[in-house]
Amino acid sequence: MKAEPDQYTSLMAVVRNRMTNRAFKPDCTIPTQHYEMILEAARHAPSGANAQPWHYIVITEPETKSLLADRFKAEQKARARVKMKFPTPNYEGIRSAPGVIIVVADFRFIKAFPVLNDGSDTDRMYKQNAERILLQSVAASVMSAHLAASALGYAVWWITAIGQKAIQQELKPLLAVPDELDIIDIMCFGPPLKASYKRWKKDLNQILHWDRFDPALFPTDDDIDTWIREHRHHVMYRDESRID
Ligand SMILES: Cc1cc2nc3c(=O)[nH]c(=O)nc-3n(C[C@H](O)[C@H](O)[C@H](O)COP(=O)(O)O)c2cc1C
Repeated sequence: MKAEPDQYTSLMAVVRNRMTNRAFKPDCTIPTQHYEMILEAARHAPSGANAQPWHYIVITEPETKSLLADRFKAEQKARARVKMKFPTPNYEGIRSAPGVIIVVADFRFIKAFPVLNDGSDTDRMYKQNAERILLQSVAASVMSAHLAASALGYAVWWITAIGQKAIQQELKPLLAVPDELDIIDIMCFGPPLKASYKRWKKDLNQILHWDRFDPALFPTDDDIDTWIREHRHHVMYRDESRID
């Protein structure tokens, strides 16, 4: 057996080359078939209890993209006003993104996972995990969609800055999303305006443990605070070759 079977090599070419880009070539139309190919990949994702608690809304109307961009730019300003120190990106790119897909999660499926539904402490404990199961399920599906878009040669952008209640209340009626459901993230994609760049990734020996958690790899709270203060903005917005 070869060290790297062909399928693994092909998969890793897609996985390595999936890169976030926040600005796309504006005058490109995504063929309907590409939306279907991307969501076909999303459809095959694994999920807890095989519940598949997701829906995807393809946005084709420029006015809706514009409204989304305006709402996100307002969010940028709101974060600046409350002095949130997160290095918020520029959301203007949503306006001209050729591909925009809204990801909708159905949290009611939490009851399809192991829970008691009797309001007890035990139930609460299981519900907390059920929520994690649901989030992991949707993420698995979204990731498949992102990899499919990358495999089609598109740059991708995963946007989650929409979970807050106020934004949900504004966006749901606009998109006719039933109140019971949640807009969990937005996927933008298209040919990149400027070439995508590879961001820093941890080395394998920083994340891989054998048999037991290796204490040498445990970051202290101070380590994390230092990382946030000194490195986060670089790893978010810089090419890995420009990270010291
Ligand atoms: C769960 C998740 C949430 C994210 N949320 C946002 C977001 O709200 N806005 C944004 O500009 N990028 C967002 N990103 C993109 C990350 O910033 C990006 O994946 C990260 O910097 C690593 O870069 P890479 O995708 O090129 O590897 C998100 C990515 C993931 C997986």
